[in-house]
Amino acid sequence: MPDQPRRQYIISEVAVRRAFLVGGAGMIVVILALLTLITTRPQGQFRALDDSQHRALLAEAEARLAGFELLADGMARIDIDHAMELVVERGVDLVFAEVAPAVDPTAVDPTAVDPTAVAEADGSAIYAAQCMACHQADGSGVPGAFPPLAGHMADLYAADPAYGVQVLLYGLQGQIVVHGVSYNGVMPAFPRLSDAEIAAVLNHTMVAWSDADELGDAFVPYAPDDVAAERDRPWAAGDVLARRGELPLD
Ligand code: HEC
Repeated sequence: MPDQPRRQYIISEVAVRRAFLVGGAGMIVVILALLTLITTRPQGQFRALDDSQHRALLAEAEARLAGFELLADGMARIDIDHAMELVVERGVDLVFAEVAPAVDPTAVDPTAVDPTAVAEADGSAIYAAQCMACHQADGSGVPGAFPPLAGHMADLYAADPAYGVQVLLYGLQGQIVVHGVSYNGVMPAFPRLSDAEIAAVLNHTMVAWSDADELGDAFVPYAPDDVAAERDRPWAAGDVLARRGELPLD
């Protein structure tokens, strides 16, 4: 019987075992490492974010808003003292926008145009462009600074329909009292508005807040001619104040 040849391996049994051991251990290390990576939370200095920065920003924004009162309808009312400070600080730049005529005079036979219709068409736009900044969108004015027109135009009209026209043509300056509140401001004159535009904006102030309803039939909408009739007075704002003094207003 020939000798069973002794098996000779390049790698000994021991080496193979060792390799298994090392490989197994290595795998366990890798798995452990992966598990650690997946489960550990990121390390470092973390603290619950307090919103101090946010608060600082809010406080800053509020400081800039000081003097404004937020109203329910998304509008804000500015405190008159603050308004005056802003006027002193920044000055006032009143924009006297040119109001485009509703009807191109060259395109239409003038005798065919109803002047009151033209006037009514523009009133609310002229009010928004020329009057709203002071007398406010709802005509309530700013107590102590700009008198209300809502609920007051009827009194003015009843006292003298021409008075409103005069205020717009010549302005008004000096102390007046409206609804028990005293005003001593300057109402700018609007001589640049056309007769139709002045009639239109006055009609708007009469109907927008129901003053015309209060007067019923006593109110006849302003026509451009009513404005033309008042245009040639040699008047300034002080003369309108004097005229106001003669009117039966409380
Ligand atoms: C720059 C602010 C300002 C603008 C713009 C302005 N007003 Fe006035 N308005 C005043 C002030 C201020 C008075 C009161 C003047 C006074 O105290 O003597 C006044 C007074 C009036 C009066 C008279 C009230 C009264 O009791 O005698 C009428 C009417 C009037 N304004 C209508 C208008 C109309 C219409 C417009 C737009 C075409 C307009 N105002 C634009 C500030 C303004």
